[in-house]
Amino acid sequence: MTDAQPALPAEMAAVEITTPGGPKVLKPASRPVPAPGPNDVLIKVAAAGVNRPDVLQRLGHYPPPPGASDIPGLEVAGAVAALGAEVSGWKIGDSVCALLPGGGYAQYALADAGACLPAPKGLSLEEAAALPETVFTVWANVFDDAGLKAGETLLVHGGTSGIGVTAIAMAKAFGANVIATAGSDEKCAACLRLGADAAYHYEKDAWEQDIATKGGADVVLDMAGGDFVARNLSCLNPGGRHVSIAFLRGAMARVNILAVMQKRLRLSGSTLRARPAAEKARLAADIRREVWPRIKRGDIRPTLDSAFALAEAAKAHARMEAGGHIGKIILKVD
Ligand SMILES: NC(=O)c1ccc[n+]([C@@H]2O[C@H](COP(=O)([O-])OP(=O)(O)OC[C@H]3O[C@@H](n4cnc5c(N)ncnc54)[C@H](OP(=O)(O)O)[C@@H]3O)[C@@H](O)[C@H]2O)c1
Repeated sequence: MTDAQPALPAEMAAVEITTPGGPKVLKPASRPVPAPGPNDVLIKVAAAGVNRPDVLQRLGHYPPPPGASDIPGLEVAGAVAALGAEVSGWKIGDSVCALLPGGGYAQYALADAGACLPAPKGLSLEEAAALPETVFTVWANVFDDAGLKAGETLLVHGGTSGIGVTAIAMAKAFGANVIATAGSDEKCAACLRLGADAAYHYEKDAWEQDIATKGGADVVLDMAGGDFVARNLSCLNPGGRHVSIAFLRGAMARVNILAVMQKRLRLSGSTLRARPAAEKARLAADIRREVWPRIKRGDIRPTLDSAFALAEAAKAHARMEAGGHIGKIILKVD
């Protein structure tokens, strides 16, 4: 740490996973305020985003990567409270939002300096906290990997999920057409309100047939896996790209290799959390250059579903698991 840092409390309020299980295993706790390593930024958290991977971690299915906090929470916004000795480009008091490998459900959280971005002016810190996890995920998969271009068509499942609302907003802001699916008529209507050009009920509609006859898709952002993979591939155009980020319908899929060859399709996938810090810093730099100006112009806005106090993290998880949310769920921290 550098010398001129203000005194910090020794302890902070946090929420911990007491044992794998339902939302009630999330309990308020007191933890030591973490000390920044050489490349870390300590953030006084104003708000933390809730993401589906936090639910998986709480259930015991998604352990934190080595070295990461066991406290859940993959994104926060707040003010820089302390800096590691080798950090440059940030100063105490700066408003930031950051992608974390864990530790967000707390009054203070450590972020690698390379995974911090300025909290966008014009957004509240609650809105800023809703950005990092989904913006990094959508950027990394839809743009960096699949190379979605203006004029192309993106198909995204779970259009009202945290990932889905961000994918719709980002793809539209970059000039692409967006087709979304959702599991209810109400959520399909919400996808259209959020800017999608078309929306399908993923259980009731023969969406892949309709998409194929109306120009097809060029990129699929898929969180479903299972039976959806073959359906996705059937409505991809020649040269199409299929990116997997989850497998809510199953990890195993049957794929027609002939169709992959004939249409020159590309299948890929990724996880964000375990990527090395340097890789996240590269993504952050690209996002700051390409996405942040569009947020500043108002072309991309976060969609917030609801906000809960930090101590009510269990209620926030229960809301996410009930599946009624549209957009991001946030924890307010102070
Ligand atoms: N690989 C990565 O780097 C990465 C990063 C972040 C998140 N993720 C994953 O991305 C997914 C979305 O995350 P999130 O935080 O945005 O979650 P979320 O807001 O809770 O949304 C979950 C979405 O999954 C959809 N869904 C659930 N079961 C489904 C099924 N059987 N078939 C089709 N769709 C189904 C839901 O659609 P309806 O409500 O319309 O039914 C909902 O929109 C999660 O699986 C998460 O683990 C991956």
